Amino acid sequence: MMANILDGKALSQKLRAGFKQRIESLAARGVRTGLAVIQVGNDPASQIYVRNKINACEQAGIHSEKHLFPAKATQRQVFDKIAELNADPAIHGILVQLPLPAEIDQHALLEAIDLEKDVDGFRAENVGALALGNPRFIPCTPYGIMKFFDSENIGLAGKEAVIVGRSNIVGKPLASLLMGAGATVTLCHSKTCDLASHCRRAEILVVAIGRPAFVTADMIKPGAIVIDVGINRLPDGTLCGDVDFERVKEIASFITPVPGGVGPMTITMLMANTLQSAERARRRNAA
Ligand code: GUN
Repeated sequence: MMANILDGKALSQKLRAGFKQRIESLAARGVRTGLAVIQVGNDPASQIYVRNKINACEQAGIHSEKHLFPAKATQRQVFDKIAELNADPAIHGILVQLPLPAEIDQHALLEAIDLEKDVDGFRAENVGALALGNPRFIPCTPYGIMKFFDSENIGLAGKEAVIVGRSNIVGKPLASLLMGAGATVTLCHSKTCDLASHCRRAEILVVAIGRPAFVTADMIKPGAIVIDVGINRLPDGTLCGDVDFERVKEIASFITPVPGGVGPMTITMLMANTLQSAERARRRNAA
């Protein structure tokens, strides 16, 4: 069996084409959708991710601005910028790129973002709303993963889903979404005993642990749907996921490549959330 490739670039193009008309419709009402990205320090991976987010927005006609602070910036400096962006009617989404330098209190900083501009969905209230099944914003990477299932009409009710990685960015919110869709969810992590046996039970396997080619073919149930969230840079400079793509694709029914799988979808759903935020703001202002 050779897996179908879940092409994140193609699906992104399709979804982004659908945004165009909504962006134009807002523009016709005098609203330019706007995203602000805050980056603290110059982590090389963050630099690339932020650049990709900004470029994708600009191409789509979404205003985007980057606010770069040195690694030694104080909490107060970044707080003040968030307060300014909260008050700016031209900004509908505020994203603080993670990770932050260790000296910065990440929780306090994220909580400073206006709930209606928290397009990552990282604020405690927004995490809670998602857990209750009534999200204000769905975190971008899990949202993009759910779009892959939608796009292939993959039913989730009753499916065995295994997630490897319990991060606040991917694993935990995705567990909420998959449970909401009726899957039976197992959330594995670095302390899980016999990880391979959990993976082998998975009809849907999502891997987000940041270790190159960690999931091997012997850990895959034949016909499984495999979603690889990892983006690892190898010593030779090439990118590689958390899954041994070449071997696993011979066993799985669907698989995402790296690059070109989950990565573009994360950016697409950031655009979707920013656009949704702009539409809500317009409705509030019109009321
Ligand atoms: N770092 C890695 N992924 C993400 C994400 O989705 N949002 C933010 N803000 N930072 C990240």
